[in-house]
Amino acid sequence: MIERIEEFFRDLFACLQIARLYTTGHVQFEKAIDKAYEGLTSILNEREELIIGIIGEEFAFEKEILFDLSKVLKPVIVYLKEREVERIAFYRGVEKRELTSFVEFLALKKDEVKKDSQEYLVSHGIKNINVGKIETSKSLKPELSKALDQQQLYADSSRSINLSLESLLSKESVNYMNLRMSLKNIMDRLIGEHQELLALVTIKRYDISTFIHSLNVAILSMHFSSKLGIAKDDCMAIGMAAIFHDLGKLYISRKIIKKPDKLTEEEFSKIRSHVTLGAELLLEHVDNLGVLPVVVALEHHLGFDANGYPKLPYIKKPHKASLIVSICDVYDALSQRRNYKNDYPPLLIYEIMMKGKGTSFDPELLDAYFKIMGVWPVGSIVSLSDSRIAVVREEDEEDIFSPCVEVIYPLEKKESIKLKETKPSLKIEHYLNPWKEGQAYLALIQKEKNL
Ligand SMILES: [Fe+2]
Ligand SMILES: [Fe+2]
Repeated sequence: MIERIEEFFRDLFACLQIARLYTTGHVQFEKAIDKAYEGLTSILNEREELIIGIIGEEFAFEKEILFDLSKVLKPVIVYLKEREVERIAFYRGVEKRELTSFVEFLALKKDEVKKDSQEYLVSHGIKNINVGKIETSKSLKPELSKALDQQQLYADSSRSINLSLESLLSKESVNYMNLRMSLKNIMDRLIGEHQELLALVTIKRYDISTFIHSLNVAILSMHFSSKLGIAKDDCMAIGMAAIFHDLGKLYISRKIIKKPDKLTEEEFSKIRSHVTLGAELLLEHVDNLGVLPVVVALEHHLGFDANGYPKLPYIKKPHKASLIVSICDVYDALSQRRNYKNDYPPLLIYEIMMKGKGTSFDPELLDAYFKIMGVWPVGSIVSLSDSRIAVVREEDEEDIFSPCVEVIYPLEKKESIKLKETKPSLKIEHYLNPWKEGQAYLALIQKEKNL
C-alpha cells in the first residue's frame, strides 16, 4: 500500500508541475491526471479515505513517516506548508474533476488564495478532498505522538538554527531565546529518550545542508558531553558552540564546498580560512553567545597535537569543547559522505578516525566516543551473518562492535538480540545504506517502533 501511495503522490505532483508549466487543459496534463486519478481510485477501492500529513519536514501516512517520498518532494512540502496545508484527505467517491481542481488550487500562487484553503476548495465544488492543519498531538496515540514530537523538535531546531546562521551572516540580530529553547528541549530529550533522537540524526543525514550538519554535530556533542559527566549547562554551551562551528563556511563559495573533484591548493586554503572567518564573526556576538563559540570555531580543525589549522604562532592545546566538537564533526561529515557520495560504512569510519588517535583526536576522548556511540550507530540498518536484516537499537559499552539489534526481516523471525551474547556465531556483516540497498527496510523500522 505504501508504494502505491508514494506513487500516487509522485504522479499528483507531476500533474502540478505540468499545470504550472502549461494549463490543466493541456494534453500532457490530461495524461498525467488520468494516471494519478487511476492510482488514487485504486487506493480508495480498498479504503474509505487516504490521509497524508506533513510532520515537521516529512510526509506521513498513518504510523509511517515517508522519508523517501519526503526527500524527493521536499520543495512540495515547503510549498504546502506555506499554504498552511499540513494534512490532505482524499475520500472514496472523489471525482477526476475534483482532483483536477485540487491541482489547480495547488498551482495557484500563495497570494492568489485569498480565503482559507479549505473554504477555497468548498467554493470550487471540491467535496471529497479536504485540507487543513494537523490535529494536535494530544489526540494521537501516545507512541505516535512521541515520535512526531521528536520529528517536530528536530524540524523546529533545524529551522531555528538556519534562521540564526542567516541572521548572523546578514548582521541582523539573532533570536538567541529560540536557539536556547531548542537546545534545552534537545538536552531534556537526550536524557530521557536519546536512542530515538540519535536514530533521527542517523536517518536525517541525507540532507547535506549546513544547518542539518550543525544540528547533528550539536546533538552528538551534547549527548557525548553529558555521557562524559559534564554538567547540563556546560553541555548546552558546547551544543551552542557546535551549532556555529562552521559558520565561516557560509562565507565560502558553494561551488568550492560542493566541488566533487580534487580541490586546488588555493581552494583548500579558502576552505581552511572558514575557521578564522567564523571566529571573527562570532567575536561580535560574545555578549549574547559567550566566548566558547569563538574558541570552537577557531579550534575545531586544530587537532589534539595542534598540527591542523589554523597555524598558530604558539603551541596551544585545544579547549576540551573543541576536542569534543571536532570528533562529532568529523564523525558526522564522514557519515554524511557515506549517504551521499562514496560508501563509508561505519566500520571504515571507525578505522579512519582511529588512525587520527593522538594526532587529530584526543585519544581518551576518541575511545570514550566509540564506547558511548558504538561503532554501528543507533538506527543503522545492517545485515547479520545469518542473512537476516536488523536495525541497531542500543549500544553495548562493553563491546563497541556488538550492539543490541532488532531483527526486522524476515518478518516471521523478528527478535531482539544482544549480539555480544551470541558471539562468535552471530555478528554484523554489512551496513545497508538507508538511501540505497537499505531503503526497502526503512518502513519496517518505523513499524517495529510503532511510529
Ligand atoms: Fe569546519
Ligand atoms: Fe563541520
